[in-house]
Amino acid sequence: MFTQFKNLIIGGLYRHIAKPIFFAHDPESTHDFAVRTGVQLGSHKLTRIATRCAFYFSDTRLEQTILGIHFKNPIGLSAGFDKNAELISILPHVGFGFAELGSFTAKPYEGNPKPRLWRFPKHKSLGVWFGLKNNGITEIAPRIKKTHSEIPLGMCIAKTNCKETVDTEAGVADYIKCYKALYEIGSYDTINISCPNTFGGQPFINREKLETLLQAISKVRNKKPLFIKLSPNLTQAQLDDVIELGETYNVDGFVCTNLHKPKGKKELDGIAYKGGLSGKLVDDLSTNMISYVYKKTHGKKIIIGVGGIFSAKDAYEKIKAGASLVQLITGMIYQGPQLISEINRGMVKLLKKDGYTNISKAIGTKNN
Ligand SMILES: Cc1cc2nc3c(=O)[nH]c(=O)nc-3n(C[C@H](O)[C@H](O)[C@H](O)COP(=O)(O)O)c2cc1C
Repeated sequence: MFTQFKNLIIGGLYRHIAKPIFFAHDPESTHDFAVRTGVQLGSHKLTRIATRCAFYFSDTRLEQTILGIHFKNPIGLSAGFDKNAELISILPHVGFGFAELGSFTAKPYEGNPKPRLWRFPKHKSLGVWFGLKNNGITEIAPRIKKTHSEIPLGMCIAKTNCKETVDTEAGVADYIKCYKALYEIGSYDTINISCPNTFGGQPFINREKLETLLQAISKVRNKKPLFIKLSPNLTQAQLDDVIELGETYNVDGFVCTNLHKPKGKKELDGIAYKGGLSGKLVDDLSTNMISYVYKKTHGKKIIIGVGGIFSAKDAYEKIKAGASLVQLITGMIYQGPQLISEINRGMVKLLKKDGYTNISKAIGTKNN
């Protein structure tokens, strides 16, 4: 009851005061401001406690151990919000059960030319064309190593966005450099082969190239679970190839999905944009892919569902479709940071309604 009241107040303040101010400013500056605020809140014990009092929610029905990793709840931050791993100290207190950081690349990249982030409120979506902006793994890995995390951390690894890595051999070497730098850091790794915003497109959705990459990884494989992050725009044949190779090379699961890249003119509500789209424009594509992968792998691979989660019902749909865990970014930007607690609390209610004693019992039930 108290949590519901708290969420109502914080959500109301966010939607009626903070969001109109944020949305009156440039999207990227607002994102940078949010990250700077998170860094400040995470730097002091008192502000961490205050954040926890405002946002934290827990319930044993949401706890699971997956691939040997304990998750206090299934809601994670998706890759792209904390590009340089600066928010590790604050994310658990906001209520996240885990966080995927990055995407990180071997070399630093300042990102594609601005503008590279657009809001589409009518569609509850963002246009994203950052192009894997990050400070590079040499700077980032030591920071993650020295920061204690109360929640599992996923390391999202991509190929440096530059002309030199378009060549397959150079691209693979670049992925491997980043993968090796994270050898003993974090709880799991995700190989991002689906960024829609890079030089040379998404070469590793090609079967032969992906096999070359997975072979190279298998030679230096660490003990951490390994995921592949998929594009929602794969054809069924491409998806079948990735799933088959995932089986051959002992990939533990799939992150479904990255941004949606529609074909044709890049214009929405009269605004020209570049790159891919998030939020509600990915929601169904992502849920359908989760169902497909779950059925195709007979529920044996772990699926992390992401795309357009704005409520407990949205998250629960992805879990019933086959996701063991879910992630979000856009929902939090549109609804406010109390959304994590709202979803976790709402999911406990949905589990109770369906007679499940734990979230794990709901996974994939829509496909049975
Ligand atoms: C601002 C922004 C930056 C992103 N950057 C990355 C990234 O670096 N790596 C990645 O794998 N996905 C990235 N994504 C995709 C998200 O991780 C996620 O897959 C997608 O946005 C769908 O989730 P959402 O609808 O909850 O935002 C980014 C998304 C946004 C909105």
